[in-house]
Order: sequence, then C-alpha cells, then structure tokens
Amino acid sequence: MSLAPWRSPLSHALERNRSSPESCYFQLATIRPDGTPANRTVVFRGFLDETNQLKIVTDARSQKVKQISALPHGEVCWYFPITREQFRLQGPLTLVDSYTPNRALQQARCREWQQLSDSTRRQFSWPDPAAPCGDRDDFSPPVLDTTQPLPQFCLILLNPITVDWLELRSEPHNRWFYQLNGDRTWSQQAINP
Ligand SMILES: Cc1cc2nc3c(=O)[nH]c(=O)nc-3n(C[C@H](O)[C@H](O)[C@H](O)COP(=O)(O)O)c2cc1C
Repeated sequence: MSLAPWRSPLSHALERNRSSPESCYFQLATIRPDGTPANRTVVFRGFLDETNQLKIVTDARSQKVKQISALPHGEVCWYFPITREQFRLQGPLTLVDSYTPNRALQQARCREWQQLSDSTRRQFSWPDPAAPCGDRDDFSPPVLDTTQPLPQFCLILLNPITVDWLELRSEPHNRWFYQLNGDRTWSQQAINP
C-alpha cells in the first residue's frame, strides 16, 4: 500500500517535535458497550511495516481490549506542542493477541515484544490491572523470555479512514481533512478551522 497523503505532515510533526518526549504519546478513544466513550494515553510504536496502520501495545486484561473486542473502532488524538498541531485519526482497530491465527500479524506481535525495554516487558507480568491493590511483592520482577511474548501482551493496530489535521500556528488557523475512499484512494480538502 502506498503512503497516505497525511503521512508526510505527520512525519514532519514527529521530526519537528523530536525534542519534546511527550510527542510520542497520544490519546486513544474507544467505545464502552453502553455507548459511552473511554479514553487513555498510550505510546505510539510506529507504523506496521509498509502500511498506514499505527501500532500500540497493551495488556489483554485491560478495559480497552474488552471494548475493542466488542466494538473494534477508535480515534487517536495527537497534539504536538512545539509546532502546535493536532491530528485526529479515526478508523477500525485490529487486536492482535495470543490467539490471532494470522501468521504475519503474530510475527509483528513478537517483534514488538522483542523491541520493548525490560521494564516495559515486566509490566505485563504485573497482577490484574484495575483489581484492588494487594501484596506489593506480586510486582517483583520475574525472569521473562525476551523472544516470546507473555499471553497477555497484545498489539493494537489503528487503520485510519479519516484524518483531521489542525495547525494553530497561522492566523487564521489551517485545517485539512483526509478521507479514504471506497477505491482505497485518499481525498483531501482544506476546510475551515
Ligand atoms: C504517558 C503514558 C503512556 C502510556 N502508555 C500506554 C501504552 O502504551 N499502552 C497501554 O496499554 N497503556 C498505557 N498507559 C496507561 C493507560 O493510559 C491506561 O491507564 C491503561 O492502559 C488502562 O486503560 P484502560 O483501562 O482504558 O484499558 C500510558 C499512560 C501514560 C500516562
């Protein structure tokens, strides 16, 4: 797949905001089964191979995984403080967990595990997230296999179908809307901020 037209401004934003460590975090919104929104900060782990899909890693026991399993759709909201730009990327989410049969996706999940720092890998061995806090010894570091992910380690992929890019630096502000068409081409349009 060719690179979507929004990839170029997003790459520039990442490049120009390199000195701000927060620019590799964004908010991922999902939908609870009762229709209410759920939102949280996650780390941007790059794009899946040659696709336009954003990678996120998480724990299978987290609420977001339950939400995505029931309703696989989400939106990322990403603010770049140095250049004062916001990207909102919306589309279907793919959950890659230990049961995913697709070989290429399973390999991508393993690669992601291998690239984590030891301290991040260890977080996946912690007791159930959001359960009442018990014995602090339950958090003591185990010896982990750096090649094979723990079963609770998941890769999430966001495949954007619309992207809304807002630039606050100019007066008036600039805003562009990108949309994936039925024939897999992208259309783009400057819109009012
Ligand atoms: C800076 C920052 C980065 C985070 N990165 C991740 C991440 O990459 N993946 C993740 O699952 N949670 C991450 N978290 C924790 C989530 O924000 C959230 O608390 C957790 O995933 C539970 O969310 P849930 O109950 O909605 O599933 C991060 C939190 C912060 C503050």
